Amino acid sequence: MLRTHTCGELTIKNIGQEVTLTGWVYRNREMGGLTFVDLRDRYGVTQLVFDANKDKALGEKAASLGREYVIRATGKVVERSNKNAKIATGEIEIIVSALEILNASKTPPFTLEEETDGGEEQRMKYRYLDLRRESLKNNMLNRHKVAKAVREYLDEKGFADIETPFLIKTTPEGARDFIVPSRVNQGEFYALPQSPQTFKQILMVAGFDRYYQIVRCFRDEDLRADRQPEFTQVDCEMSFVEQEDILQMFEGMTKYVFKKVRNLDLPTFPRMTYADAMKYYGNDKPDTRFGMLIHDITTAVKGKGFKVLDEAETVGAIAVTGASEYSRSQTDELVEFVKRPQIGAKGLIYVKYGADGSLKSSVDKFYTPEDLKKWADAAEAKPGDLILVVSGPASITRRALCELRLEMGTRLGLRKKDVYSPLWVIDFPLVEQDAESGRWMACHHPFTSWKKEDEHYFESGELAKIRANAYDMVINGVEIGGGSIRIHDRKNQEKMFTTIGLSKEEVEKKFAFILNAFEYGAPPHGGLAFGLDRFASMTIANEESIRDYIAFPKNNAGRDMMMDSPSTIDEAQLKELGIKVEIKQ
Ligand code: AMO
Repeated sequence: MLRTHTCGELTIKNIGQEVTLTGWVYRNREMGGLTFVDLRDRYGVTQLVFDANKDKALGEKAASLGREYVIRATGKVVERSNKNAKIATGEIEIIVSALEILNASKTPPFTLEEETDGGEEQRMKYRYLDLRRESLKNNMLNRHKVAKAVREYLDEKGFADIETPFLIKTTPEGARDFIVPSRVNQGEFYALPQSPQTFKQILMVAGFDRYYQIVRCFRDEDLRADRQPEFTQVDCEMSFVEQEDILQMFEGMTKYVFKKVRNLDLPTFPRMTYADAMKYYGNDKPDTRFGMLIHDITTAVKGKGFKVLDEAETVGAIAVTGASEYSRSQTDELVEFVKRPQIGAKGLIYVKYGADGSLKSSVDKFYTPEDLKKWADAAEAKPGDLILVVSGPASITRRALCELRLEMGTRLGLRKKDVYSPLWVIDFPLVEQDAESGRWMACHHPFTSWKKEDEHYFESGELAKIRANAYDMVINGVEIGGGSIRIHDRKNQEKMFTTIGLSKEEVEKKFAFILNAFEYGAPPHGGLAFGLDRFASMTIANEESIRDYIAFPKNNAGRDMMMDSPSTIDEAQLKELGIKVEIKQ
């Protein structure tokens, strides 16, 4: 090694030792003939001291060091007069006797401090510099701890890590595929896996019983804070299990990881049906750190001659604790909030339920305080609350109240960083109807089995009522993972494909391999996949956004800013692939 120690390990115990350190020049300052250099590496920061009064040439060399120069310094460990209790090496410094510049550095385009002055684009372009910052560095190292804990747990439970291919055929996970042209088979294409779903099921047919893989998945879909076009799954599958076995096994894994990485003991995960999640929280990934449940107050508000409410499909409300004193501008802001195109509500009605029991609303013309009391009761509001009411088509009302609830939760400080509220959402519908095309689509994916007691809804055509054996793990409003008990026989798998409108030919072309496999002794099986990026960001920092937990993420437009990809390719390369590119304007 070029060093005897790292920059994070020398303490008072090492006083008097001759040491050699290597690292990056973090800060460099001069004071009365002395040059102080903070030398940084992955492990920490150590203060180097150069005395120009004793060795002029050495002092000058030290003074010339720029930020992020890579150096090697040899010297003696001494006790510091001016101690820094904030860092592990804060009690010592090195009186340097020899300095070697291993590599110079240009001045970084932004400061590598925690409060950096670098914009998002710059930081992504120079990702290697951004990754030198303490928080990002720690995120990567902690992500490693999460992955390691996952492996420890699954290994102990007998799961075998088996790799599956990347150059495959379409996987029906609901996003678009990334496509790779084949040179050898011109005019034909591979798809990158949206998940290893079909392979892991086939591994069960092959008899492996317990499989896992920490694996990259690719989905061509719109980006969000918690979504990347390539992301990592902890993908798992088990044979001879029922839903309960899976929930127990992976609740156990989550608890193990939180304990290992954060020393936190998570409580038993409650179970909530999809129907209740939608009803009380407005979405299928409820943030249960706080209450403020959504209530359907349709029957309580109708029949007073106010057309907007009388004609609405649904009227829903949330009661915001202690917000009855909200000012006009504050309520106006909330009205604008629900009218944003992403939410699309027509407006918002509010009722101020004063601490003295008084009731005043934005629609006082139509409703007496007695009427409003009925609303308040239906919304389970208490004196001092602000009741927010949205009406209209069920789906828009639900979305608006869901977003309002989260917004008010944030404003009131109820979405606390130090609180974890995990749960399982269960009993998802098997299929849902696409609003535009009217086509039925699998809610999870088409390999998911359904509840036996709901089988009769296939015959009656009430497909929306069929519940799947599917489950999601949700923590603080983030879907960390999801899975299902699978179909494991050809007849039912064909029935599912028919239900979602696939023709015999399509099924044959896309899924013959798995249908065939099901004819050779497929065991009952099920599994799930965690999003490792989300799992890591949630475990480490209780954060929804995953970008700072991925070493080399893509930006909002799906670009790798550092490599500048995607990019065009040579004409010769295209020719070799037999591809002609026509750019649509
Ligand atoms: P699903 O599609 O629910 O299930 O994905 C599993 C988990 O992967 C994470 N995830 C993502 N993370 C970041 N960026 C994305 N674009 C992204 N998409 C999904 C989420 C999600 O819960 N094959 C099934 C699993 C199974 O049935 O076993 C599947 O992929 O955390």
